[in-house]
Amino acid sequence: MTASTATTADTFRPALHYAARNTWLNDPNGLIHHGGVYHLYYQNNPMDNVWGNMSWGHATSPDLLNWTEHPVAIACDEKEDIFSGSIVFDRNNSSGFGTATQGPLVAVYTSAFKPSSVHHGIQAQSLAYSLDGGYTWTKHTNNPVLSRGSAEFRDPKVFHYDGAAGSYWVMVAVEATDFQVVLYKSENLKDWELLSSFGPANATGGVWECPDLFPLPVDGDPENIKWVLVVNLNPGGPNGGSAGQYFVGDFDGTTFTSFTTVTEGTQDPARLAEYQWLDWGRDYYAAVSFSDAPDNRRLMIAWMNNWQYANEIPTAPWRSPMSLAREISLHAIDGTLRLAQHLALDLAAVSGRGPVFELEEASITSETLVHDGAAGSVQHIELTFTPGTAEEFGLLVRSDGTQGTRIGIRPADGRIFVDRRDSGLADFHESFASIDSAPLQPIDGSYQLSVYVDHCSVEIFAQGGLVTLTELIFPLATSTDVALYATEGTATVCGLNLTRWA
Ligand code: FRU
Repeated sequence: MTASTATTADTFRPALHYAARNTWLNDPNGLIHHGGVYHLYYQNNPMDNVWGNMSWGHATSPDLLNWTEHPVAIACDEKEDIFSGSIVFDRNNSSGFGTATQGPLVAVYTSAFKPSSVHHGIQAQSLAYSLDGGYTWTKHTNNPVLSRGSAEFRDPKVFHYDGAAGSYWVMVAVEATDFQVVLYKSENLKDWELLSSFGPANATGGVWECPDLFPLPVDGDPENIKWVLVVNLNPGGPNGGSAGQYFVGDFDGTTFTSFTTVTEGTQDPARLAEYQWLDWGRDYYAAVSFSDAPDNRRLMIAWMNNWQYANEIPTAPWRSPMSLAREISLHAIDGTLRLAQHLALDLAAVSGRGPVFELEEASITSETLVHDGAAGSVQHIELTFTPGTAEEFGLLVRSDGTQGTRIGIRPADGRIFVDRRDSGLADFHESFASIDSAPLQPIDGSYQLSVYVDHCSVEIFAQGGLVTLTELIFPLATSTDVALYATEGTATVCGLNLTRWA
């Protein structure tokens, strides 16, 4: 292991989130539920804990909580790095990689060609297949299968389209520096035909990466299906650096038509807050969804880091966790189609925990220590605030009197924020210490929060997951207090319950 600037004790290793044992990871890749387990592949440097030697690492989980790390699935070689992509179960063996009775898993990934390759200078899409349920992989001999002669063509997400226009594989990928999503179709995963392109639109403050396209029912109505196009971009997020935006619209088998485009062409920086964001925090990037999740659920995982400081976060021997898995749903709210997100699993039930602290109703006037029994470094805190006269109120987690992470609501500003300036180690990069915020409106006069605290992160789901904020933090292991606070007046908290793992 080289190039580590990290502290010696591994006090930041997450308990509820996946991180590789002793290596670097970035984007989730090839998310698929297959053979009774969730497969999480990911951009991995098998040799170090900084970005490089890009290969696909691999882990599996029966429940999205307990993960087992496996050997590297698809390794880089002297000719190519293995950049991001997806995996499909080719049930009917359309690719011919399997047999009539056993369809293969097919990985569609970006070859980032190295100087020793004849393709050096371009990024193109390649295939690998697995006949043992995703544990060992063979590269296709005729790679790449899809090239545009472009140096910035990457991150293919493939799904099977079955609709009015027919039945075929669809790939969404990006021309990253053109701020475009390009769509292709194929019968056999090997021969691809251009369908259409989308963009530039809305946020274009950085390259477009890791797209995803999937259908969702509006408010659960199977007769009312709309399509969601996810476009991650870096930098250009609402609070700086890496982030994910989305568009809601229709897909007719050829073209994605957005209903939620605010800006055609290059972004209007003044309108960033009107664009739709998967997450407003600094550390939720390269979010993509699972193929073949049970019960048709749309489940998503993101890389919990930000390219601004990704290689410098103070962890060792590993670097970068994944987010918790989220279930995504689509809702019509005040005439706008918006995503809501909640945890894909009931953490307490899966891990056999119950609340260790509950509060029916309490008035907060100043900083109040919740309870000795509430202290911890891995917690799920659910609560509802009703505003009073206070101009700001909220929750302080991973606190010790001097340091702490503040999650606050300012009703008059219509915003929720995370202040991590005093969250612990924050000076390892100039852009890390920050206050990051999102628009937030009361529902029936109150604000409901669900907050997951793990050793090095907070993930906040506000108002039933209509607004989420995900942030890394690096507190002292001894900073474990939880406090409620209100400034310049009062607020009421009700229905607080806290579950703790550590
Ligand atoms: C996004 C990204 C992808 C690329 C991969 C390389 O974080 O830049 O566009 O495929 O990471 O590791």
